Amino acid sequence: MYKIIDNNNFKTEKDKYITLVEKVFANDSDKIANILEFEKHLNYIFASPYNNQAFWVLLIVNETLISMVNFFEYDSLNHDWCLFTTFTNKKYRCKGYAGKVLKYGLNHLKRYQYNKLICGIENTNIASIKLHEKNGFVYSGYDWDELAPGFPKNHLGFIYKNFNR
Ligand SMILES: CC(C)(COP(=O)(O)OP(=O)(O)OC[C@H]1O[C@@H](n2cnc3c(N)ncnc32)[C@H](O)[C@@H]1OP(=O)(O)O)[C@@H](O)C(=O)NCCC(=O)NCCS
Repeated sequence: MYKIIDNNNFKTEKDKYITLVEKVFANDSDKIANILEFEKHLNYIFASPYNNQAFWVLLIVNETLISMVNFFEYDSLNHDWCLFTTFTNKKYRCKGYAGKVLKYGLNHLKRYQYNKLICGIENTNIASIKLHEKNGFVYSGYDWDELAPGFPKNHLGFIYKNFNR
């Protein structure tokens, strides 16, 4: 089942879903698998003072998180969005789940107004580069923080090109 968390249900449902993520992160040594940082990121993207539009897609089977991705609007004036933290449970990698969850998220994004969608990937993360290239992202020729100031340094900046709605 796909679960969407957005500004309507984040406050009421976040604890349940963060617990699912925590279980998966506990078995993973990847630096992305840091529950405190991840929760901080979620609190940031769903924080009402920023009035950000954001959503988090989770693929859950039998109460286990299989894969997830989140999106947020970082520049509401220009409707520029960023895709952040694509993650698949280690036990379920290379089975196409990140591709499925990403496609689902990109389709859900059509409900919102957006002009640009970016993401950043470390140049050593071949799995993530392949995943995003297969799903309509192209390397911009710039780093992530050059595409939009404030994003992490030393990541290749990718731009989504499939804007057919
Ligand atoms: C990146 C990540 C989300 C991919 O998840 P996944 O569910 O295994 O991805 P998919 O099975 O949908 O694979 C997507 C494509 O990437 C390729 N791929 C996946 N893992 C790969 C690997 N380790 N090496 C090379 N290619 C890989 C797949 O072959 C597939 O392409 P194909 O359909 O042509 O075969 C997963 O490896 C992960 O969670 N990594 C840790 C967190 C992370 O780095 N996130 C991204 C941050 S930018």
